[in-house]
Amino acid sequence: MNILLLGSGGREHALAWKLAASPLVSRLYCAPGNAGIAREAECVALDTADHAAVIAFCKANRIDFVVVGPEAPLVAGIVDDLEAAGVPTFGPARLAAQLEGSKGFTKDLCRESGIPTAAYARFSEAEAAKAYIREQGAPIVVKADGLAAGKGVVVAETVAQAEAAVDMMFAGGLGAAGTEVVVEAFLAGEEVSFFALCDGEHAIALASAQDHKRVGDGDTGPNTGGMGAYSPAPIMTPAMAQRTMDEIVLPTVRAMKARGAPYKGVLFAGLMVTAEGPQLIEYNVRFGDPETQVLMLRLMSDLVPALMAARDGQLKAFDLRWYQEAALAVVMAANGYPGDYTKGTVIGGLDKAAAVEGVEIFHAGTRDEGGRIVANGGRVLNVAALGPSVAEAKARAYEAVDRIDWPGGFCRRDIGWRAVKREPSGA
Ligand SMILES: Nc1ncnc2c1ncn2[C@@H]1O[C@H](COP(=O)(O)OP(=O)(O)O)[C@@H](O)[C@H]1O
Ligand SMILES: [Mg+2]
Repeated sequence: MNILLLGSGGREHALAWKLAASPLVSRLYCAPGNAGIAREAECVALDTADHAAVIAFCKANRIDFVVVGPEAPLVAGIVDDLEAAGVPTFGPARLAAQLEGSKGFTKDLCRESGIPTAAYARFSEAEAAKAYIREQGAPIVVKADGLAAGKGVVVAETVAQAEAAVDMMFAGGLGAAGTEVVVEAFLAGEEVSFFALCDGEHAIALASAQDHKRVGDGDTGPNTGGMGAYSPAPIMTPAMAQRTMDEIVLPTVRAMKARGAPYKGVLFAGLMVTAEGPQLIEYNVRFGDPETQVLMLRLMSDLVPALMAARDGQLKAFDLRWYQEAALAVVMAANGYPGDYTKGTVIGGLDKAAAVEGVEIFHAGTRDEGGRIVANGGRVLNVAALGPSVAEAKARAYEAVDRIDWPGGFCRRDIGWRAVKREPSGA
């Protein structure tokens, strides 16, 4: 088979690494890719927003299957366009991608289907939103309805902060994403990422994972796209995973089918595990980044048949096998991230780092400059490792991190702390 993968981040490098390992794949392309992906796939300079160009590439290169990494092309309907052109594609169609494309859509769906989520209200102008905030009190959460690249949510500790967030969003601070706003109750608990492969009717859970959103050690400082992840997440016991499937994922799959927008692809539920059980924070309609980096390390089964079965509506009797070992990934980011950062700093020592037992390095924002790897983004590298426990995977990942010579970058030193603390040898 010839496969085209769309995207350019650490998630796509991990997917490319796993797809390339499949005996079913003869040629793997990635658009646009990065310097690390170029080791697994042939990178092509396609603009994924130009659906006609992607279709033309698929026809010219006899692509049998397309795998879409990021959310923007999904919400823009690239799956609809590729499928209409006769190219089988993994990912939800435009209407199903509304589960990520509109937070208000998802909240309404939860309300109608009795899916546990924070109490909320939707607003299309500032005064009514602020009146609701004053009535509810703080802490309270203000969310832009649309895609905002991780910048659309303000967890406000005071009413004044929440009101300021409303004003910022309606003043156009987040562009079109903020023309509608969701205000919701603050949920206390532990966050976890839950993934299920869906075929429009059936769903199978993937291994659990937890990420670290804050930039600083001890989960402090501003939010980021994710500074590290590990799998399994001890809080996701088999009983908790079953509840999540029964109370959140399967009702969503049924509701989407009933709406005539069957959900096919990977459904990524951001959960808050509260005293009452799992509550849905949000849906994403694609694999998580950096969670995918640890999930792909732990996945024993061939990824290609699984993604094809999701697309073909054939997950009913499907089964995935996982390595028992734990996996952990440390994100290395350019100094200054998530604020302003410089591009182009040189990264050395990658081969020495990759030689540590159990380690795989997935590139997120890198470029090859005449044989030298240089930083080309905010999040730049994922140093991932398998190990018999989260603590041992962590030790391997940091041993590799310490072999990387990159004065232009930094990482957190405490990825996995919650899981390590829970392990028998934990501090
Ligand atoms: N209702 C809530 N209660 C507490 N924290 C929340 C709530 N909603 C969101 N958050 C926090 O804000 C983060 C971002 O919110 P989320 O809905 O996942 O938006 P996005 O990922 O699109 O930025 C979450 O990961 C979580 O830490
Ligand atoms: Mg989120």
